[in-house]
Order: sequence, then C-alpha cells, then structure tokens
Amino acid sequence: MKIYETANYKEMSRKAANILSAQVILKPDCVLGLATGSTPIGTYDQLVDWYEKGDVDFSQVKTVNLDEYRGLTRDNDQSYYYFMHQHLFDRVNIVPENTHVPDGTQEDADKECARYEALIESMGGVDIQLLGLGHNGHIGFNEPDTSFAQTTHCVDLTESTIEANKRFFKSADDVPRQAYTMGIGTIMKAKKILLIVSGEDKADIVEKAFFGPVTPEVPASILQLHSDVVIVADSAALSRTPKQK
Ligand code: F6R
Repeated sequence: MKIYETANYKEMSRKAANILSAQVILKPDCVLGLATGSTPIGTYDQLVDWYEKGDVDFSQVKTVNLDEYRGLTRDNDQSYYYFMHQHLFDRVNIVPENTHVPDGTQEDADKECARYEALIESMGGVDIQLLGLGHNGHIGFNEPDTSFAQTTHCVDLTESTIEANKRFFKSADDVPRQAYTMGIGTIMKAKKILLIVSGEDKADIVEKAFFGPVTPEVPASILQLHSDVVIVADSAALSRTPKQK
C-alpha cells in the first residue's frame, strides 16, 4: 500500500487526477471504476480541465460506478447517475454508452445486481477503481458488518450514512434507505485501487482502516490485503497516522 500525503484537498485532487489520467494515457480503452460523494469532485474538475487543454482523451474510456441509491430515477438530481453526468460525463468526450451506473429504478434487486456484476466481468474487469472513504469505514456502500459482502448487492444504509448524506437532500427523511453497490469482492478484483480522502473528520477512520486490524467492522481495512493500492490523502486526513516517508 502506497500512501501519498498532500498539503490540502486541491493537491489531493490534482494527484488523483494525475494517476487516473496516466491510466487513460497508457491504456486509452481502459475501464475506470468511479465514485461519487464530495471527495472526488475536485478530481473530476481537474480531469475536465486537462481534457479541455487537450491532455486527456476519454473517447475510448469505459466506466463503471460503484453504487446507486435504490429507487431514484436517473433525472433525480440526487441520483449518482445525475451526479456523474453533472461532474464528469457531460463535460468530457466520453461516449455515454460506455458509462455505467447501477440502475436504481430496477425493482428486482437480485436481477439488477447480477446484471451489473456480469457487465463488469464482460468488460474485462476494472483497471483502476477510485474510492472515497465513509466516516464509518465504508467503501461503496459496503457498511460495517460481521462479514465482507462479496459481489454487487442491495444494502440497507446505516443511520450514520443516512446522517452523513442528508446534506445533499432536503432532510434525512428524503435520503433513500437502500442502495445497490459493488461488493467488497467486486472492488478487490480491480487491478488497481486509488482511494482519496480529505479532512480532519476522516483522520480517525483513516487510522483504523489502514493502520488497524483487517475487520468487516471497518470495510476499507480489507484494502490492506490488495496488492496494488494507492491512497492519496491530505495532511488533515493523515493527522492521526504514523508519519509517511
Ligand atoms: C460514493 C461512495 C461512498 C463515498 C463515501 C465518502 O460513490 O461509494 O463510499 O465515497 O461515502 O463520501 P464523501 O466523499 O462525500 O465523504
């Protein structure tokens, strides 16, 4: 596991965008696994900037997103489908058909999750998976549990996740209670993992996840067992961990 420390959020975003664009340059038809939430917004802005300058070309890139709220339609401005179009897809030359987000409107959860898992397989797997980190250690919507969930599945969101995500909705009552998410097994199959994290409020969970025991109670801790993980974190997020060389 390689940890890059950056001075602040802006530098974290730039470093993460650097790693993603290097992937696109080396393999123009790569599969990018993408995340939503507030952490990757700066990374997407930086990628758009480099695209506009002619430095990155998304014309052959394919993407699969980690997760989607169950029940939200694609035109709902809180859906992750909407988020991805707003922050990245509509701003670069990616082919819309090459972008994939679980379909939250599919009522048959087992069917939709199986379809999504098979889709990822059919694309040859994920070359690099971008991840954020939840305050409770979740990655995707894999919440703390007694066992590591394996493939794409439907989850009940925990109170702490509903609380953390209510900032995007009118009230906590409006936050969907379920989501479709890649499982820990799906994420671990990615050839490379890039986790980004910023802010002092994440310092405790960074310490637990990457310097504590591997346990399903801290889902991100499993990443310690992946052979190619890069963590890009700002100093605030690393303020409770041993100094990086
Ligand atoms: C988003 C996702 C979540 C977020 C996590 C951190 O697709 O899967 O795991 O990465 O909740 O969210 P932010 O970045 O808003 O702190």
